Amino acid sequence: MARPPHLLTLADLTVPQIKRLLNHSAFLKASTAPWLVPHGSLSFKRATALRLPPQSLFNKTIAMLFSKRSTRTRLAAETSATSLGGRALFLGKEDIQLGVNESPRDSARVIGGMCQGIFARVGDHSEIEELAKYSPVPVVNALSSLWHPTQILADLMTLHENAHLFMPPVAESDGAAAAPSEDAAAEPKKAQPKEGESNEKGRGSSTVLTELRPLTIAYVGDSANVLHDMLVTFPRMGHNMRIATPADPKYRAPAAVWDRVVELGCDKSIWWGADPKEAVRGADVVITDTWISMGQEAETEQRIKDFQGYQVTEELCREGGANPDWKFMHCLPRKKYEVDDEVFYGPRSLVFPEADNRKWTIMSIFDLVIGKWDIDGVNNPT
Ligand code: CP
Ligand code: NVA
Repeated sequence: MARPPHLLTLADLTVPQIKRLLNHSAFLKASTAPWLVPHGSLSFKRATALRLPPQSLFNKTIAMLFSKRSTRTRLAAETSATSLGGRALFLGKEDIQLGVNESPRDSARVIGGMCQGIFARVGDHSEIEELAKYSPVPVVNALSSLWHPTQILADLMTLHENAHLFMPPVAESDGAAAAPSEDAAAEPKKAQPKEGESNEKGRGSSTVLTELRPLTIAYVGDSANVLHDMLVTFPRMGHNMRIATPADPKYRAPAAVWDRVVELGCDKSIWWGADPKEAVRGADVVITDTWISMGQEAETEQRIKDFQGYQVTEELCREGGANPDWKFMHCLPRKKYEVDDEVFYGPRSLVFPEADNRKWTIMSIFDLVIGKWDIDGVNNPT
């Protein structure tokens, strides 16, 4: 019997697989809710008629095992499952026997007997590995101590659909790299999404998703789950990363993550130091995350001390020499420690479109990985 596909980190996916999930996300958004796609992106202009999303979860239930709080991930998952014709069954840590009276192995087998997918937000990453090892149905990581793959898909989608914000000045590009234009949108008839034979099927070829030039992406803050999935993904998508974390090695990526970064050759596109100003030099995008991840509340005082000077502000980015048009991203939830209000609520901020895109990317994963078991055999050797 075929083994189910799982998605525990984007490090496990090839670039064509990542692009396929992104293209499918853009396709789902443009074909079912085009009014949500930013003006100026190709996908908005190419959307023709509204469609019902694929009903690949019809009569299916996804078990949502959440041992930590969530707003975006939970909402995205529950609304996506409904749109795909199925149901998401939320099971908080107080609701089921898992981790208290029952092993992940036994729980995975029982849940997999009644549900068609597992979407799990866990503490230690080993918990989701254990679930995946024994689950007869696909397991998708909704956040663990090490990784947050669904977040980074949404970040990439947001960057792609805002590609027009990152076009080089005309003088530098000689006019050749013009923003997606009416012509570009109208010209390739073959690029129109078609019923049954949708463009997003073109694995790796970006026909729905707007092309994005290589960016310099700065990350200032804590090396946690969100950054870790960026490290194994952004360089493979053609972007450079510049990172600043406090000098104490405990704020660096753990070996389990860095080994994957090196194995994928991503380290060659990453500069990593302790000076936030150095990190934002030439940055097109500046990203941060909370300094106190869920489960680290007891370290709050120490962390606030250790991260002094790491708050993302206009001043930091001006003095550090970021691209004057730099944009800001954050996975949310946000505290004021890591970014001030001026940046967070200002015109550079893409944080709310980024949050909205959690839905389309999770819908894409649910459709392809859980509904259809189809992302080119990822983690599925048979
Ligand atoms: N970004 C993110 O995962 O948010 P939630 O914790 O609200 O799901
Ligand atoms: N690093 C944060 C991400 C929240 C979405 C945490 O783990 O709490």
